[in-house]
Amino acid sequence: MKNDSYPTSTIANNTKRILVLFAHPVPQQSEVNIFLFEDAQLLPNVTAVDVYAEYPDFNINVIKEQERLVNHDVIIFQYPLYWYSTPSILKEYQDLVLEYGFAYGKGGTALKDKLFFCAISAGGKEEAYQTDGFNHFTIRQLLQPLEQMASITNMTYLAPFALFGSRSASREDRISTHREKWTTLLNALATEHIDLDRAKNIENLADLTINGANE
Ligand SMILES: Cc1cc2nc3c(=O)[nH]c(=O)nc-3n(C[C@H](O)[C@H](O)[C@H](O)COP(=O)(O)O)c2cc1C
Repeated sequence: MKNDSYPTSTIANNTKRILVLFAHPVPQQSEVNIFLFEDAQLLPNVTAVDVYAEYPDFNINVIKEQERLVNHDVIIFQYPLYWYSTPSILKEYQDLVLEYGFAYGKGGTALKDKLFFCAISAGGKEEAYQTDGFNHFTIRQLLQPLEQMASITNMTYLAPFALFGSRSASREDRISTHREKWTTLLNALATEHIDLDRAKNIENLADLTINGANE
């Protein structure tokens, strides 16, 4: 596709369209992310894509994914934290889909002004993700390559929506609250009931106070 031939967004009304790119290599064993993915699928303004299911051989359809990105205002990578990073298919997705002339570089303005953030679960506890904690870095620090990806592609980067201690969240009955916050957040983003300055600067979007989004 030529640089000048990327379609412009076709969004007509005031509702923002949200793309959730869900990446879990073993979703049948998921205790957290699969439920957030299912919740996202139920919302009318959300396109929720199971990236591993769609591309089991990592044969990502670049043109299709670029069109998907163009047709949404909010891009979310949703995944369990693996080795302080994304599951591998989301790296492949970035490597192939975010091409020069599309996402960055000369003429590469297709993602300009979209919102981007990560919705993650981490096995480690919140206190482990501190500079003086077990993992030595905060979650925002560990996500800096994605923050810089958003910067160079002219997207607006928001804080991650994170659940810590994910392996014990089910038995500690923390998942339903997290799912409610997720649905509220997606509705708030769709209807612009969100304080973007706070959403950019907070450590965890799960701690953001949101009013009026589900009305
Ligand atoms: C290959 C692998 C790597 C992982 N790496 C990390 C990690 O770097 N930090 C962390 O806190 N948890 C790590 N975990 C734990 C996962 O983040 C945790 O299992 C996941 O958040 C649970 O979500 P789920 O129930 O949707 O699978 C890892 C798990 C696996 C299988």
